Amino acid sequence: MSGKVVEKRKASHIEVCTRRNVQARSVRTHFDEIHLIHNALPEINLGDVQLGTKLLQYELKAPLLIEAMSGGTPEAAKLNAILAEAAESFGIGMGVGSQRAAIEDPSLEYTYRVVREKAPTSFLIANLGAPQLARGYGAKEAEKALEMISANALAIHLNPLQEVIQIEGEPEFRNCLSAIHDLASLLGVPIIAKEIGAGISKEVSKAVEKAGVRCIDIGGAGGTSWAAVEYYRADKVYNAVQKRLGLSFWDWGIPTALSLIEVKSSTGLSAIASGGVRNGLEVAKAIALGADAVGIALPFLRYSLEGRDKLMKEIDFILQELKTAMFLVGAKTIDDLKKVPVAITGTAAEYLRFRQIDVESYKRRP
Ligand SMILES: Cc1cc2nc3c(=O)[nH]c(=O)nc-3n(C[C@H](O)[C@H](O)[C@H](O)COP(=O)(O)O)c2cc1C
Repeated sequence: MSGKVVEKRKASHIEVCTRRNVQARSVRTHFDEIHLIHNALPEINLGDVQLGTKLLQYELKAPLLIEAMSGGTPEAAKLNAILAEAAESFGIGMGVGSQRAAIEDPSLEYTYRVVREKAPTSFLIANLGAPQLARGYGAKEAEKALEMISANALAIHLNPLQEVIQIEGEPEFRNCLSAIHDLASLLGVPIIAKEIGAGISKEVSKAVEKAGVRCIDIGGAGGTSWAAVEYYRADKVYNAVQKRLGLSFWDWGIPTALSLIEVKSSTGLSAIASGGVRNGLEVAKAIALGADAVGIALPFLRYSLEGRDKLMKEIDFILQELKTAMFLVGAKTIDDLKKVPVAITGTAAEYLRFRQIDVESYKRRP
């Protein structure tokens, strides 16, 4: 596929995501069934709460990431600049969108390079797709993607749902795991296996851990639905089959909170919780479940279109909410928050029991 085709598609993804309701309809993240236990005697002051933490050995001033979205078009370069300025000013991490467009057409590299220019000290994540790895991309392309933004880690996106519904999709995932394994042994930076809205199971997380992946970006169901995005794109060109698939699989996937528990209960991997996280209380819940950081995509895209100040204000709100939740459970630090008691109720508890996922460690917390 030529760089121009990939570039056009990226522009249409951003357009659909900003103009249409592309979020989950019936599936939800299940953070509503994760309960932090109120501490009426927190024995700390709000001012004592510290958000600083580490992700894959890199310092973050708060456990938050702007998820992979943008790059590949002039408009996307502007968005990337705004997102990167915000990341730098809060000391949080950021991922860029798939760099395939620039690998195929180097004239588009500037749309990604701008991120490192605007965020010289931030934790940055490069991005390539698993199907590209399986079909010929290797260390050369990965190193190019890393160099483009002096990245600290490489995300390999796993997006079988999107590939099967996308009109130009390439639902070809044979040999992806061995390609990831080969890459992990060659690269000098950690690899993050990343879903984009359908979540990652304990089985897949164990397999990628064995292949040398160091971190999972959950990308669970309950937020942006890529079946929905591709439904709208199929609708535009009257593609009845892809449209029908998009509708039927709109809410497909493992809900974010459940996927996070699947991954944390069965591997030693770092985890970024993402997919439908929309406020700082949910960020706190994700960290209490074991996430090292939390990623947000669609809301940040929409705020960034309204300008840098709007985006910065939203990030500030989220961090205030996170601090408030930490105060109310008596957690001074992010490490403390990872140890507070939680309760899991309703369908979430039932699902985890059925999946034979051991939640004893959450129960045993003091
Ligand atoms: C406009 C847009 C473009 C995206 N492009 C990519 C991409 O190129 N690579 C990737 O790994 N994820 C991509 N994503 C997925 C996000 O990184 C994230 O996993 C997903 O949107 C779920 O988070 P959310 O519910 O907060 O939006 C994109 C998301 C959006 C909204």
